[in-house]
Amino acid sequence: MEREIILKTSVDVAHIRRACRVAERVIRALAPYVRPGFTTRELDRLAERFLRENGAEPSLKGYRGFPACLCASVNNVAAHGVPTDTPLEEGDVVTLDITVNIDGWHGDAAWTFLAGGRSAPRADVGARRLLLGAWAASVAGIGAVAAGRCFGDVGAAIQEAAHRHGCAVVEDYVGHGIGQGMHEDPQVPNFGQPGTGGRIVAGMVFTIEPMVTLGSPGLAMAPDGWTLATSDGSLAAQFEHTVAVFRDRVEVLTFSGDLSAHLDFPPALP
Ligand code: MF3
Ligand code: CO
Ligand code: CO
Repeated sequence: MEREIILKTSVDVAHIRRACRVAERVIRALAPYVRPGFTTRELDRLAERFLRENGAEPSLKGYRGFPACLCASVNNVAAHGVPTDTPLEEGDVVTLDITVNIDGWHGDAAWTFLAGGRSAPRADVGARRLLLGAWAASVAGIGAVAAGRCFGDVGAAIQEAAHRHGCAVVEDYVGHGIGQGMHEDPQVPNFGQPGTGGRIVAGMVFTIEPMVTLGSPGLAMAPDGWTLATSDGSLAAQFEHTVAVFRDRVEVLTFSGDLSAHLDFPPALP
């Protein structure tokens, strides 16, 4: 069923921006703890503390029964990983995805890290390429967003960038509108043809969140009903940003600073 796209006023965007800033701040605060020996459950506890200290509520906890504040997806888990007590190992590929709620408005962001950092000696070459591919795909997608363009332009840009790094794009999950609903219309596919799909207009706020893998793009749901792992066991990564479309510009609400200064490497890799 076609739902209505809720366009946002600049006051609405100010509310969403506030939530997005906290989402970014929490993820950046977690980065140093994505290290060997730490568990994703400990990361989730820290996330909840940071989030509440910033006046926010976790949007994810209790959402359709999701048990945590944070999705923590390790190695072949592409998304919606439930935090666990398994200690991280050096070189693990760890995606942290958090949605925060302030005064009923949501902000959504995800980053992928290598446990132990970029120079972790045991991180393999493929994992580094994967992170670059995921980052390039998300930056390319964001770069294709503008009032007057269409969602096929965004999907095509994402795909092209991922393929350039030898990565596959997951097609079963899409970005989404966001505001007072955590998931609103429109859907934002991570693949497509230029010049096709719905029109992007001023007032839209949505996420760009391509999942990319080093192998096949297919995913399988684990028996817990949440965890989405690659069906071939290959590594997966994802960056997610919430963007707001204005008549003459696009603002990345979940990235402070200039995204174009970080075109070539994920800032998650120090
Ligand atoms: N933050 C996720 C997204 O990007 C939503 C996860 S829903 C959950 O849309 F229940 F799995 F947490
Ligand atoms: Co999202
Ligand atoms: Co998210």
